[in-house]
Amino acid sequence: MKVYKTVLGLSNALEKYRKEGKKIGFVPTMGALHNGHLSLVKKCVAENDVCVVSIFVNPTQFNNKTDLEKYPRTVDADVKLLQSVNCTIAFVPSVKQVYPKPDKRQFNFAPLDQVMEGPSRPGHFNGVAQVVSRFFDIVKPQKAYFGEKDFQQLAIIREMVKQLKLPIEIVGCPIVREESGLALSSRNARLSAAEKKTAVKISKALFESVDMIQTKSVEEVKNWVINKINEDPILNVEYYEIVDSLTLQNVKKWSDSKYITGCITVYCGEVRLIDNIQYKK
Ligand code: PAF
Repeated sequence: MKVYKTVLGLSNALEKYRKEGKKIGFVPTMGALHNGHLSLVKKCVAENDVCVVSIFVNPTQFNNKTDLEKYPRTVDADVKLLQSVNCTIAFVPSVKQVYPKPDKRQFNFAPLDQVMEGPSRPGHFNGVAQVVSRFFDIVKPQKAYFGEKDFQQLAIIREMVKQLKLPIEIVGCPIVREESGLALSSRNARLSAAEKKTAVKISKALFESVDMIQTKSVEEVKNWVINKINEDPILNVEYYEIVDSLTLQNVKKWSDSKYITGCITVYCGEVRLIDNIQYKK
């Protein structure tokens, strides 16, 4: 595996592969890699001739300075993990390499970015779109891989690719869970042992609610999930929205859409966790 730190170094290497007609796949990450990321990388390796993984903690998607500073950085371990799953290239650029000039672009993803994570993290999705479009421009992949755990992010990336008319296939990959059901996340590392045990109640409530759609209304299922999780004093639901999987807008009845997903954000102590479940897929 090769590690590149500059756009020029990476571009030159990729140009050679492109001339040979090789298919390039791309997985953007912010590092602190876990098995969830590795599942994307393995899929990318299997489906392409060249797999590029970026490790870059993108400042423009953080609306909170301490959150940016506290974000785990484990580049050496990340590079080893990437090597172990046969990744071809790790791209580990500096902020200056990614943003030689400040990126002033303002995207409009309404109404996708006006719900759920949107209002609580102003500017977040704009920053994600800035960095991902910049990486797409550098890497020019045929396929790019994103986890379904960040369900809203995935919808927004698909919308961005449509708006910018990029010839890139966006591949969504299923959530990877611990045996307990807890969705893998870099943030899980910040949970104490007791909190981690408690956090399992989030996915448990989501799983349990799936069969309820036969007998309960959308409103009833939504309230049941929120109340069930909030029963635990360590857990605090920020929102639980049951939405059309494509438009991300609330559904009122189960018959409103063919594809329905429940998206949740819960504070477990100080740690903000997200998860989702598909009611109709
Ligand atoms: O999902 C993430 O880790 C980030 O939002 C991404 C897509 C790598 C952009 O920085």
